[in-house]
Amino acid sequence: MRRLLSSIQVPIWLKKHSFHTRLLVTYLLLTALSTSLMSGYLLWSFHSYFMRTRQADLENWTTALSESAADAIERQDLERLELLVHRYGAPETVTLRIFAPDGRLLVSSNPRDPQTMNWLEVAGVREALQNQTAQGLAKGLFSQDDRLYVARPILRNGQLLGVLRMSLTLQQYQRQFVTLAWAAMSALLLTVILCTLISDQLARSLSKPIQTMRNFAIRLGSGHFGDKLTIRQSTELDQLAIELNRMSERLASLDRERRVFLANVSHELRTPISNIQVTVEALRSGASEEPALRDRFFQTIEDETRRTARLIYDLLDLGRLEAGVTLLERQTIVLRQLIDRALRAVESRMKAKGLSTQLAIADVWLEGDPERLLQAILNILDNAIKHSKVDSSISISGYRQVKQVVIEIQDQGMGIRDNDLPRIFEQFYTVDPSRKGSGTGLGLAIAQRIVQAHGGTIAASSLVGQGATFTIYLPLKS
Ligand SMILES: Nc1ncnc2c1ncn2[C@@H]1O[C@H](COP(=O)(O)OP(=O)(O)OP(=O)(O)O)[C@@H](O)[C@H]1O
Ligand SMILES: [Mg+2]
Repeated sequence: MRRLLSSIQVPIWLKKHSFHTRLLVTYLLLTALSTSLMSGYLLWSFHSYFMRTRQADLENWTTALSESAADAIERQDLERLELLVHRYGAPETVTLRIFAPDGRLLVSSNPRDPQTMNWLEVAGVREALQNQTAQGLAKGLFSQDDRLYVARPILRNGQLLGVLRMSLTLQQYQRQFVTLAWAAMSALLLTVILCTLISDQLARSLSKPIQTMRNFAIRLGSGHFGDKLTIRQSTELDQLAIELNRMSERLASLDRERRVFLANVSHELRTPISNIQVTVEALRSGASEEPALRDRFFQTIEDETRRTARLIYDLLDLGRLEAGVTLLERQTIVLRQLIDRALRAVESRMKAKGLSTQLAIADVWLEGDPERLLQAILNILDNAIKHSKVDSSISISGYRQVKQVVIEIQDQGMGIRDNDLPRIFEQFYTVDPSRKGSGTGLGLAIAQRIVQAHGGTIAASSLVGQGATFTIYLPLKS
């Protein structure tokens, strides 16, 4: 059935039309087809039922009458025959005729019947004279109306005594039938009109929200993010509207993020570059004469250049991670070796600040890109060192928890306030803007992207004044 339905193709000319027209035409065609089939079937069955019952009536009447006629013929009682045809015949509607075996008309209920006529030409008479009952539809002799007839031989002991022919006009029935057909046609017309109105309404109610959504999508496409769509129709369209709204919100927030990001990038780049510019100008206008000042200025230029380079490197890295362009290597990594490498990299900085480490690393393996994971851990360690109090300690633990590897890095710095905690993984977010010189706020964002690319998560918790803890969860090597 489904295959049959799907094989019904929408005609090309209809494809070009709007959803509304297509629905409307489809509904109309379906209702017109079904109602005309229905009324056609009803009329046909009514007609055939009527014909069958009339035919059966005629048969029964003629069977009974031919017995009485046989009696009268046997007794050569023409008067009785006359009486018989007049009693059972009715002017115009029922005509009853009795013929002799030679085809002569003996009696007729119709007084207009001519005596001199070849009755063998009348439908059914010839067959009946040859001992066969005939029945069917024929034109009336004088009125030319359609009549149902039965012609049956009158038999007694196998001998043909004559023929009895009875016919019934269908005029009245036909008039009735035409009235009925007109009624059916009117009903059909009425149904089609009503259906047009209802299906137009229905098609409109379906196509209108789609139109609204289309306009909404066009607005969205032309950059009007954040608009809201309200549709109260059917659940499916509602669902679609909800999804479109969600998309609009997401686009709006992405757009906001993009603007903020661009503003941050240009700000972050402008600061070191204008620092370099000012310093170069100062050097040109005489500062280079003074050795101490000159050295400091050169140092500034070097620092700012390094900072700009790092910023650009970080931004590119972040962009690649975000776009999923960076291909991660898949290697088996021993967690202890990874932590050792990270610690070696920051050893001198820790020593300079008098920091010690407390390690508790279990024997666990994980799978991933060692350079990337090292970078993520270094970004967290870098923060821990930056924010640690002098001569404090940083503890690093690594262990297995169900199907995950957990890496915890805890410092004894001043911690992070609760309202900053949810935002520290955002790009360019730094808790204290006045201390911005120390970082651009990309370190944790990059660490998070790396961990996420490995199918893991990263979280931070903190007790203000006592330090912060960063926890990385990574899937265990399967
Ligand atoms: N261990 C920590 N203790 C206290 N504050 C922290 C700690 N780690 C991060 N933060 C806060 O979170 C902010 C975001 O950290 P993130 O590493 O992303 O940026 P950053 O260190 O400022 O700059 P970058 O890492 O790009 O040089 C930091 O500015 C800092 O205020
Ligand atoms: Mg950092």
